[in-house]
Amino acid sequence: MSGYFEIENLNVGFKTFEGEKNVLDIDSLVLDKGETFGIVGESGAGKTVLALTILRLLSTPPAVIRSGSINFNGENLLQKTEKEMRRIRGRKISMIFQDPMSTLNPVFTVGEQIVRVFMNNKKLSRKEAAKEALSMIDMVKLPDAGNIMGKYPHELSGGQRQRIVIAIALSCGAEFLIADEPTRNLDVTIQAGILKLVAELQRELGVTVLFIANNLGLVSVICNRVAILHEGRIIETGKAREVLRGSRHPYTHTLLNAVPGGSVERVLPGVLMPGGEKGTSGEGCRYYSRCPERQDICRARVPDPGEISGTHTVACHRAFKGGEAGAKEYSGS
Ligand SMILES: Nc1ncnc2c1ncn2[C@@H]1O[C@H](COP(=O)(O)OP(=O)(O)O)[C@@H](O)[C@H]1O
Ligand SMILES: [Mg+2]
Repeated sequence: MSGYFEIENLNVGFKTFEGEKNVLDIDSLVLDKGETFGIVGESGAGKTVLALTILRLLSTPPAVIRSGSINFNGENLLQKTEKEMRRIRGRKISMIFQDPMSTLNPVFTVGEQIVRVFMNNKKLSRKEAAKEALSMIDMVKLPDAGNIMGKYPHELSGGQRQRIVIAIALSCGAEFLIADEPTRNLDVTIQAGILKLVAELQRELGVTVLFIANNLGLVSVICNRVAILHEGRIIETGKAREVLRGSRHPYTHTLLNAVPGGSVERVLPGVLMPGGEKGTSGEGCRYYSRCPERQDICRARVPDPGEISGTHTVACHRAFKGGEAGAKEYSGS
């Protein structure tokens, strides 16, 4: 592993009226430079909290970062001051959000918005900035950049808006892009276009991408590796192919079964998987109450991640012989 981007023992909670709620519990997440890594989980799994924690955009309180480190290029982001983070956001690490309208200002043309980013961050003249803005619009493969520059966000389609947001996110030369469900509100054909664009930009610019979605089929189209996030814990991780074709965690199976054809985003937010109530509290596996393959040990003990292969890891007692996740041999059921 390159040590380019490494999360260790990250634990994030929220203070609520009912006490502190544990939202993220990540033992380890490592990204290599230049790869596209997918995070998949249903609504409420903690995907956005993870993205916001990386960029230090979570409000603390109510959020509490209890422990952990997020090393990026050898520096722990969790120890940075707000002033230091302002230099990292946009310039080193950038984020695109689910809803492009939350990034775009409705009262300015998109051209003006991109021009301002260049004038403010790169200290360019208006003329130079306009030239750069045109080339950014070309870069995100929107035809007739000059015409697009003069449009207001509401005059563009959802897909066009998301392309503009990607252009803005990459305009300051960020090398790490977090895409938080960027295709969620788009039609299937438009989704495919955005995925293709992200893949092309990743190759052309060499950026590292953390691609967040609620659909494993969709993510595996563009990601080398994926992690399945369930109630704040990574329960399975591996090469996209390994997890898609050889998933070993019952929750991953359910996620896959919920997607007809495995290639389009049809897992609706908040959909409850079969098996009963959402979540278990206490010490055991958080999937216990919904798991069709649960055993007594699952309620009693959190399963540690165990290796299926050098690249494929699963945190499930059932996946290993004798109910021990530490063992290497798969039970075959
Ligand atoms: N400000 C907040 N206060 C309390 N709980 C929150 C807050 N923001 C998010 N959460 C909780 O954190 C969990 C993860 O949320 P989120 O990261 O938005 O999920 P996802 O992006 O995977 O749909 C959810 O249970 C959500 O209710
Ligand atoms: Mg989210």
